[in-house]
Amino acid sequence: MTEQSAGVLCCPVCGAGMKTAEKILYCTGERKHCYDIASSGYINLLPPGKASNAKTGDDRRMLRARSAFLDTGAYEKFSAEAARLIKEQLDGAGIKNNSGSSKEKSAVFVDAGCGEGYHTLNIARCLAENGISPVPVGLEASKYGAEKAAKRAKAAGDIGKGAVFAAANIFAMPLKSGCADAVVSMFAPAPDAEAARVLKDGGFLIVCSSGSRHLWELRQVLYGEPRLSPPLSRVPEGFELCATSSCSFRLELQNREEIGALFEMTPFFFRCPREGRERLLSLDSLSVGAEAEYKVYKKAYNSI
Ligand SMILES: C[S@@+](CC[C@H](N)C(=O)[O-])C[C@H]1O[C@@H](n2cnc3c(N)ncnc32)[C@H](O)[C@@H]1O
Repeated sequence: MTEQSAGVLCCPVCGAGMKTAEKILYCTGERKHCYDIASSGYINLLPPGKASNAKTGDDRRMLRARSAFLDTGAYEKFSAEAARLIKEQLDGAGIKNNSGSSKEKSAVFVDAGCGEGYHTLNIARCLAENGISPVPVGLEASKYGAEKAAKRAKAAGDIGKGAVFAAANIFAMPLKSGCADAVVSMFAPAPDAEAARVLKDGGFLIVCSSGSRHLWELRQVLYGEPRLSPPLSRVPEGFELCATSSCSFRLELQNREEIGALFEMTPFFFRCPREGRERLLSLDSLSVGAEAEYKVYKKAYNSI
């Protein structure tokens, strides 16, 4: 975490700005609320004392399964498309340089519901390769997920250095109003109102969700006749839809382990019928289509 990335945070208790000192973050409010920076680099910014904190977010098992699958690189194209959309919007919007440098644009992007930071860091890497200096902020309800993300950032070298990963509620983000150029929601609940608050005027929200036939062949094995996933049609208040895109590709799963890893990270793992599960887990290979839809919403000027 750098001063620049810490500078976007605000205290989840009193809303004051935050400063770093050694291994803590403290707020500049009267009460000087303090938050430890864990050795992994993650910060717990879930409001203290909320019983609901313990239950929020995906559980360890799900996060572990997702990491195992994502680490194969199978969903890299989904991150790359999100990064392409961010770059396209930054280029088009002429968003002002945060760093003050005339050479390189810097962009604060928030990955809301970032899981274990896989897409966050991939997006940051793609932006850096395209001449944008990223300030990635990953927020995740699961402490385990935020911690894994921070470890991932450490392993990512320079790209990870400016990143902040916090356990936090995306519906009450511990971020200053108007601090972000982009908010990205990758297969996570979309925090419309909070996105509008933390975005700069003219900033944008990118929502990536499963396409209607995402993992269709896997769903066919599980359910026989699966239903098409409904499209995302609502435009969030305070935003206007400015672009859409999609990304699809095939995954060739070559053995039971690969099929199991994909299955475990989907919601079907918890709710499909037993016979479907048995059918799927007895397969030795599976060719399955992956597809995601992207909506880019621009924040209307003075919308909040
Ligand atoms: C399907 S996962 C996607 C994770 C990641 N974006 C990815 O694509 O790999 C949705 C994530 O949103 C997180 N999440 C759900 N509700 C949340 C909330 N209120 N605040 C923060 N994170 C939340 C979950 O814990 C989970 O990690």
